Amino acid sequence: MKALQNKSIYMIFKKFIPVILLLLFAGSCTFDTKDQEIGEKVEILLKQMTIEEKIGQMTQACLSNITLNGNKNLDMNPDLFREAIINQHIGSFISGTGPAQKWIDFITELQRVAVTESRLGIPLLIGIDHVHGGNYIDEGTIFPHNITLSCSFDTSLICRGAAITAVETLAAGINWNFAPVCDIGKNPYWPRFYETFGEDPYVCGIMSAAYIRAQQDSISGENRLLATTAKHFIGYSDPKSGWDRTPAEIPDQILFEQFLPPFRMAVDAGVKTVMVNSGEVNGVPVHVSKKLLTKILRDELNFKGVLVTDIKDIMKVHEEHKGAETEKMATLMALDAGIDISMACNSYDFITLTKELIDEGEISEDRIDESVRRILRMKFELGLFDNPYPPKSNEFGSFRKAHLDESQRMAEASIVLLKNKDQILPLSRGAQRILVSGPGADSKRMLNGAWTLEWMGAEESRQPKEMNSLFQALSEEFTEKKISHFETGSDSKQFSEKSYMKALEQNDLVILVLGEQPYSEFKGNISDLTLPAEQLELARMAYDMGKQLIIVLIEGRPRTITSIEPYASAVIFAGYPGERGAEALSGIISGRVNPSGKLSFSYPMFPGHFTPYYHKNFDKSENLYAFGHGMSYTEFEYSQLSLSDTLLHSPDQNLTISVKLKNTGKREGAETLLFFFRDEKGKITRPVKQLFHFDKINLLPGQEKTVSVSIVPADIFSYPDDKNNWAMEEGEFTLLIGDLQKSLRFLRD
Ligand code: BGC
Repeated sequence: MKALQNKSIYMIFKKFIPVILLLLFAGSCTFDTKDQEIGEKVEILLKQMTIEEKIGQMTQACLSNITLNGNKNLDMNPDLFREAIINQHIGSFISGTGPAQKWIDFITELQRVAVTESRLGIPLLIGIDHVHGGNYIDEGTIFPHNITLSCSFDTSLICRGAAITAVETLAAGINWNFAPVCDIGKNPYWPRFYETFGEDPYVCGIMSAAYIRAQQDSISGENRLLATTAKHFIGYSDPKSGWDRTPAEIPDQILFEQFLPPFRMAVDAGVKTVMVNSGEVNGVPVHVSKKLLTKILRDELNFKGVLVTDIKDIMKVHEEHKGAETEKMATLMALDAGIDISMACNSYDFITLTKELIDEGEISEDRIDESVRRILRMKFELGLFDNPYPPKSNEFGSFRKAHLDESQRMAEASIVLLKNKDQILPLSRGAQRILVSGPGADSKRMLNGAWTLEWMGAEESRQPKEMNSLFQALSEEFTEKKISHFETGSDSKQFSEKSYMKALEQNDLVILVLGEQPYSEFKGNISDLTLPAEQLELARMAYDMGKQLIIVLIEGRPRTITSIEPYASAVIFAGYPGERGAEALSGIISGRVNPSGKLSFSYPMFPGHFTPYYHKNFDKSENLYAFGHGMSYTEFEYSQLSLSDTLLHSPDQNLTISVKLKNTGKREGAETLLFFFRDEKGKITRPVKQLFHFDKINLLPGQEKTVSVSIVPADIFSYPDDKNNWAMEEGEFTLLIGDLQKSLRFLRD
């Protein structure tokens, strides 16, 4: 069964790019997977496969394994890659970086060898971490990272970003995206906090599901589809020490109530693959947890797709967790727990060991077939057997501008104005001398963050050429003001205090761009959440000199700023706002853009004390800025909160909640309505409040709108026990929206 190279399809694709984009943005595409037909094709193919070919399909190699000098730059080593595809029967590859044309040429050759020279001509899965736009393609668009984006509370924006990422990823010939992260950002020390959609399970679930649908249902009828990955199942984001991949101790009840919902929503959205958490939860490495991978994920969530390990993680069950005597034992345990693909990266041991386990009767061929069936099905569903090839021509030039504009809209809608004393912002027009300083002032690298061309974020010189730093963007924004820059270095350690003081003296106002250099995974482990002392010093000195101070935070997690916050007239959280983050920020500072972002996480007051907004009653702790906090240049008024019923007799009885929102200020603006409830009492104690719906509304000055939501109470007010049984208890519930609240009771008939 050799796959056909269908040239015409890409000509059609090219011609209809505008139509396709329209479909993408409408988010209404569906793709008929022709279930039964695919099932039959899979069985025919499976029957022809040797056991080695089957295990090869279950193995994922790093592209660096088949390049010259083991680099990620797509310089192919023909011997190594023929070894991987023809001799080892590898079914998928991951990770690389380079210009679009190089990607296209590389993947065209890989697929050509797979479909025309391997015995059965099975096309390849090519995976990538496009976690914020087409971030591993030189011409790709860099969007804000998820922590920033989630502050937009705008699901349509998430959809558009995801759809554009799909277009760029497919245009390079890549067919599998390792995104979105469905972990909840509960522990701000965790160095992957910025990859999450914030701390709230519902927000993480809604945004992940929107992302998955927009990417997977993308180019209808074109036989060019992308698979997404819900990662990292489960409990990765709250390690006890805060450091990456260190053990988590999470009671089952909390695991089910807080960590599971985003994955359930991802599975319900049809996610094709799930990646396993590299860490261990309650003493069991998740890669070998049959309870989590089979009982919960497969049986209870009904996940039918492909379960992939994280990088080298079967080996690590033996070598790092010390959870198995040998790597072979770890392989047996992981297969038994339910994994389908081992992201083995640069070793073929998984192939040898699995073969040995089958020969020794430890693993049955039926078990192997289960996984291979899922993998082949996915390849058919993605249309790879019809056409595995990238487009013939490089399409990036045709969509670059539109995609960049979208990146700017995303940043504008996401950046959060945390403080605005005496309405210092927007800055008054007219002459003023402004000093821009701090490690992020003239850095593109910081705006884009990690996973930008390189895992740790590319060096400054490799960042997009036409991109602006904040200093550059402010200079363009305020032509009438004198904007100057004082260089402090990337960690602000080398700056001369004397020169800084001189620069301060010569200016009226200081914009300090503080925060974190990009980091990935364990490279971002820290032991103190406080912003580094040198950066705090920059703020203190500006204040001591009597300068008005604006702090802009470019960071992947809420580094505590409590000691300098009172010095600042304005504070802005930008997270990692991406390639057009500078324009978005300067627009907010000048007033060209009315800020509308709200925090999707709680900003801690102290480095050793952090609680999400959904903490329990006994916890009276306060954060510096609350979840949902975010200011605008206009004002909104909430009124007329009403419920269709205040006494419920059945958990399935529909309930409609309405509230009126009015823009009472002087300019157009957008407001996010956050709908919370509190279950007043519970057998298992309940959070002080819990989000169950959000909506972002744009209003002109004086305009008002009634916003309604209909819910099935059982879906919202139920919670699980430690066996993952969900139920709604009788009693009183309070709904809290804006500054309003209303009660209702549930009494079973
Ligand atoms: C990360 C994953 C990523 C994988 C492949 C791992 O280190 O944990 O999120 O998908 O690498 O690059």
